[in-house]
Amino acid sequence: FECIRTNSKRIQARKLFDYNIVLIGFMGTGKSTISDFLKNVFAMDVVEMDQIIAQRQGMSISDIFETYGEQYFRDLETNLLIEMQSRSNVVISCGGGTPMRECNVVEMKKNGRVVLLTAKPETILDRVKDNHDRPLIENNKTVPFIADLMEKRRAKYEAAADIIIETDGKNELEICEELVHRLRTMDEEK
Ligand code: S3P
Repeated sequence: FECIRTNSKRIQARKLFDYNIVLIGFMGTGKSTISDFLKNVFAMDVVEMDQIIAQRQGMSISDIFETYGEQYFRDLETNLLIEMQSRSNVVISCGGGTPMRECNVVEMKKNGRVVLLTAKPETILDRVKDNHDRPLIENNKTVPFIADLMEKRRAKYEAAADIIIETDGKNELEICEELVHRLRTMDEEK
């Protein structure tokens, strides 16, 4: 009870989810935006994987790719997911490629519900066009390229997801309401 009095927000969040929410999806589907929203509304902690990896390495994602290569970056992602299993009630905002490794999906599910956010290639292009820290699309910011890469990844994204939320034409509040409602429905069914 002392805890409730001194830190009511945290307790409120604990009541809502006793596991981690793992947000996955292609670049620009809104993982970071939705994480921020959940953080503000439910006082949940957010782990922004790209940001933590960049901070710990002391360099941007683009520089990590350039200096050490993609596999090195992918290993950092796997290790971070394993590290997060000891936490709960955290929103984990993954990089767009994180669920491409099957072992990562296994790690995500150990203490998390996996939420896939989707968007049309046109929406994605619009959201990512002014950002320059996405090495996989930096020189290919076109609808056909994005659509093609998305299609190549689709099966793995869908296989990993516990729930799928389309984000086109919805605002942050609508997306979060849908997310919370569907997770709670899932919890009640268990
Ligand atoms: C990647 C997505 C990026 C980042 C890296 C690789 C991917 O994260 O992890 O550039 O493979 O799709 P965002 O989805 O946050 O842009």
